[in-house]
Amino acid sequence: MNTIIQKAKEEHYAIPQINANGLIWIECILKAAEITRSPIIIGTTDKVIEFLGGYQFICSTIKNKIKAMDVTIPVIVHLDHGLTVENCKKAVDAGYDSVMFDGSKLPIEENIKQTKAVVDYAHKNNVIVEGEVGAIGGNEDGVIGNVKYADLDDCLRLAQETLLDTLAPALGSVHGKYQGEPDLGFAEMKAIQDAIDVPLVLHGASGISDEDLLKAIHLGHAKINFNTEINIAWSNQLRQTLNQDKSLFNPQQILNPSKEAMVETIQSIIYKCTSHNRV
Ligand code: 13P
Repeated sequence: MNTIIQKAKEEHYAIPQINANGLIWIECILKAAEITRSPIIIGTTDKVIEFLGGYQFICSTIKNKIKAMDVTIPVIVHLDHGLTVENCKKAVDAGYDSVMFDGSKLPIEENIKQTKAVVDYAHKNNVIVEGEVGAIGGNEDGVIGNVKYADLDDCLRLAQETLLDTLAPALGSVHGKYQGEPDLGFAEMKAIQDAIDVPLVLHGASGISDEDLLKAIHLGHAKINFNTEINIAWSNQLRQTLNQDKSLFNPQQILNPSKEAMVETIQSIIYKCTSHNRV
């Protein structure tokens, strides 16, 4: 799994992580990735794992769907913002390919200690690990926070002392909708890229301009996370479909236009990350 992300870093593109919020998301993510021949990461946020049916259920569902759809591109099943070491271990046991431990709210010593515990367990099981330094602002699934820029020394220590596989340094991006223009801190990003070898991860990518995404890719970001943009496409189309014909009750007639809107949006994200035609 790590080599897929390493390859993206070396060849200057990013693999999109698209968050799944239910069964139709999984289908749409796989369809868009297969059409565009892009490697893809399906993320499930720890905060909504019960809503999704639990680690075991959602992970095996994604893997069964991959088989059922005869998917031929590489797919990484990833736990997004793992809340505790125990939760990350449960995801590893359930068959996830990659887990994020979000220790960003902890003092750096504790972040290192707990991320290392996740890395030790995950690596024994061939699972890769993402860590976070600083704090990504905004609102993701009810988790609200303010931006706190990642400290370069903390990034270096987390990478070197835990041997994690990917690093998310918080640099001005926020989850959810931006208020005003995003300021991604490109100077700080360059300093981190110069100092650290591991591929970087950009969270909160919905609402970031195409130009800024490309700059971030050229400064070492090989995984870029999207959630809000797809959910807006889904909900806007759903509202429109229901408003257009108030007598509709057939689930397929109601949901199919939203599925098409999601596939289109995910394809456009893949093009922005320039990960198309890479497999
Ligand atoms: P957005 O919801 O802003 O796209 O962020 C997604 C994300 O970073 C998931 O970890």
